[in-house]
Amino acid sequence: MNEPAAVRRLLIRDLEQLASPAGRAAPLRSRALDETEVINDAYVLCENGRIVAVGRMRNLDALAGDVEELDGRGLCVIPGLVDCHTHACFGDDRVEEFSLRAAGASYEELHAAGGGIMSTVRATRAAGEDALAEAVRRHAEWMLRHGTTTFEAKSGYGLDRDTELASLRAIRRAGGIPTWLGAHAVPPEFDSGDRYLDFALSEVLPEAARLAEAADVFLERGAFDAEQARRYLEACRSAGLALRLHGDQFTEAGAIPLAVELRARSVDHLEATRADGVRALAESDVVGVLLPASALFLGRPMPPARALVDAGAAVALATDFNPGSAFCESLPLVCTLACTQLRLSPGEALAACTVNAAHVLGRADRLGRLAQGYDANIVLLDAPDWRYLAYHLAGDVVAQVIVAGCPAPRLR
Ligand code: NIG
Ligand code: FE
Repeated sequence: MNEPAAVRRLLIRDLEQLASPAGRAAPLRSRALDETEVINDAYVLCENGRIVAVGRMRNLDALAGDVEELDGRGLCVIPGLVDCHTHACFGDDRVEEFSLRAAGASYEELHAAGGGIMSTVRATRAAGEDALAEAVRRHAEWMLRHGTTTFEAKSGYGLDRDTELASLRAIRRAGGIPTWLGAHAVPPEFDSGDRYLDFALSEVLPEAARLAEAADVFLERGAFDAEQARRYLEACRSAGLALRLHGDQFTEAGAIPLAVELRARSVDHLEATRADGVRALAESDVVGVLLPASALFLGRPMPPARALVDAGAAVALATDFNPGSAFCESLPLVCTLACTQLRLSPGEALAACTVNAAHVLGRADRLGRLAQGYDANIVLLDAPDWRYLAYHLAGDVVAQVIVAGCPAPRLR
C-alpha cells in the first residue's frame, strides 16, 4: 500500500499584525479598495502551499503532528506582492541615457533619435535566450527581495521573431507570466508601423500566442496609433490572448476608448489622462494600472489616481520595471509614491498591488489575499505596523518572503 503523501505545514505565529484586502471580490473599487482586514497578535497557518487559516493567537487551537514554526514577534504580514507590469527581459542597461537625461535630454527625443527603447532592442537581440533567462532570473530575485512573489514580464525588446519568442520563453523559464509586447516600437528594418505589424501578426503571433497569456501595445505618438493598435489587439484576441495597452503616457491618443471597446484587461500609465478618460474608465471593467515610479523617473506628471478611484475605476499599481523609464523593482517604493504623490491611502495602495494586480493577471481567485484557500505567498515586514510598507520611504522593510508555503532565507 502507498504511504499517504506527507502534509507540509507552516505556522507563522505571534505576529504584530496581519493585513489583507478584505472580502473575496476582485477587482476592488471605490470604498471597497480601502477595506483592509487587520488582525492584531495574529497567526497564519499554511498547508501544502495554501493558507488554511488566519486568526488571532488566542483562538489558535493546539496543532497535532509536524508543523514548522516561524516566530513572527516584531513582524507584520501582508500578501505576497504582485507586479502586474514589468519589462524585466532585456539585455544591457541604459545608464548612459540616464546621465544624458540628467543633463537635460528628454526621453521622447532620445527615442526619436534611435536611442531609448531601440538601444535596448539592439542589446536584447545580441544577448541570446540563455542570457535573457539569466537576466530575468536576476531581476526576479531583486523583486523577491522587495516582496514581489508574482510578476508579469513583457517581451518587446526583440521586435524580430527569434528574439520576441526567446524573450517569452526566457520569462517563463524564470517564473514570470509572459505578455507579448509585439507592438512596442517600429524596428528600423521596417519603413512603417503597418508593414511591421504585417510581419509581427503573420510571423510571430501564432507562436507568441502559445507562449504568452496577454498581448500589449504602446499606443503613443512615435510608436503605434489607435488604428494600428486596434488591428494588433483584435488579431491577438482572436489568437486567444488577453489584452493590455500602454496608453496616455505622454498624450491621449485613444487608448482608453479602445481598451473599453475591446474589453481589455488593463490600460497602463495614464499620466496624460483627463476627465473624459477618467469617466470612461470608471464606467468600465478595464483596470487602470498606475506606474508612479515611471512618472517619477522621467519627471512626468503623476496619473490622476485619486480622481480615478473616487470616480469608481478599478486601479492597480505596478513598477513598470525597465532599463529606460523606470529602473525600479520595488513595489514598497511604489506604495510610498502612491500615498505621497497619488493621494491613495495605505490600504488602497496595498489592494492595488495585491488583489487588483492579481486580477489584471487573471489570478485573483488564488493570489493577493491572506485568507483561507489562497496561495501561501506571504511577505513578513520588519515593522510594528503593516503601513510601514508605504511609510518607510525606500526602507528595507521586507524581512522575509514565503512562496507557496516555503520560507526563503531571512533578509533581516
Ligand atoms: O512602459 N512606454 C513604453 N515602454 C516602457 C519603457 C520602455 C523603455 O524605455 O525601455 C514603459 O515606460
Ligand atoms: Fe511599461
